[in-house]
Amino acid sequence: MNNTYICPMLKISNRGNHMPASPIRKLVPYAEAAKRRGIKVYHLNIGQPDIETPPQIIDAVRQADIRVLEYSHSAGNESYRRKLVQYYKKVGIDIAYDQIIVTTGGSEAILFGFMACLDAGDEVIIPEPFYANYNGFAVEADVIVKPITSSIENGFALPPIDEFEKAITPKTKAIVICNPNNPTGYLYSAEEMEVLKQIIIKHDLYLFADEAYREFCYEHTHASAMHLTGVENHVILMDTISKRYSACGARIGAFVSRNKALMETVMKFAQARLSPPSFAQILAEAAIDLPDDYFNIPKAEYRLRRDTIVTRLNNMKGVFCPNPGGAFYAMAKLPIDDSDTFCQWLLESFSFHGQTVMLAPATGFYGTAGLGKQEVRLAYVLNTSAINAAMDCLEHALEAYPGKMGI
Ligand SMILES: Cc1ncc(COP(=O)(O)O)c(C=O)c1O
Repeated sequence: MNNTYICPMLKISNRGNHMPASPIRKLVPYAEAAKRRGIKVYHLNIGQPDIETPPQIIDAVRQADIRVLEYSHSAGNESYRRKLVQYYKKVGIDIAYDQIIVTTGGSEAILFGFMACLDAGDEVIIPEPFYANYNGFAVEADVIVKPITSSIENGFALPPIDEFEKAITPKTKAIVICNPNNPTGYLYSAEEMEVLKQIIIKHDLYLFADEAYREFCYEHTHASAMHLTGVENHVILMDTISKRYSACGARIGAFVSRNKALMETVMKFAQARLSPPSFAQILAEAAIDLPDDYFNIPKAEYRLRRDTIVTRLNNMKGVFCPNPGGAFYAMAKLPIDDSDTFCQWLLESFSFHGQTVMLAPATGFYGTAGLGKQEVRLAYVLNTSAINAAMDCLEHALEAYPGKMGI
């Protein structure tokens, strides 16, 4: 017998009710059901890299001589922050160790930024499609996301300055730019970063730069927001080791800014949650000692996968996929009626030689209702033979799908 007493007066907060569930994970039950039916599912739906985490950084944790697993400094171990200074120097970012607060993943850095820079009801502008969890952080911090739409037709380049001007209100406090971008893979140029610089100066805004995929740029070098001059107090870098070293489970990120007052404020949030993970800071510190050419192999692998997937997609009838300049995502426009229905149908009602593919419907990445209905995101986190098999499935699925559109 269940004796749990449920009080009818207990209510869930409005915030709790408004908190969005992950749009990427909502298809998981359909994938599980497909697997129970014996179907092999190629997961191109989430950004979980399959590249091996460098064994030497896991060994650093194994070999650590720890007797008491203490809280670390709230800003992260000083030895790690000093080493991070060396890493940033290599990517052309000049900062001091006290301009870094180590966070529990890049996720916490984004949340800290929202909490410390915006009040309840303030607005943040984000080019859409955007990383869906920004919506969750915005709900947590009671801030409002104002999307401005970028277009698949020009590869999701930065929307024109007029669009920013139209979206800015007295409540606007910040712009988020994710470079290279998740979900589009778009790699913003130095010129586009200069445009953003002019906007943040003119309207006195913060620029939150999410550079989780900095290491994976294929078309030109990375233009970091931290390279912008004259806006040192405006720019906040939200960083993470999750994708850089294929270490998503470590939960180590960084909040980086030259704005002293802001750093002092964020430190209060950091103190309230005590400290970032201790084991993982050892791993992250060891990662700075990886050889300089460490990234060559994963980067070449991702580039090959990108070339494979983009070529395959563009060879399919009625499909358009702009060439992404970075990260490990591609967005494709498909000849379909509705990407949510299509992605579910792929798992529920379709298989090709006992296999199918799981994709992310793009609707979850748009803040504007109704957009992304013909688009899907593909994460190229599988090797090229798996990508080719997944593309075979997709090609056949597009022929068989009842909701296919004439082209
Ligand atoms: C653009 C972007 N920012 C932030 C994150 C969160 O990273 P972390 O694992 O460090 O919390 C992700 C994870 O997928 C991401 O894609």
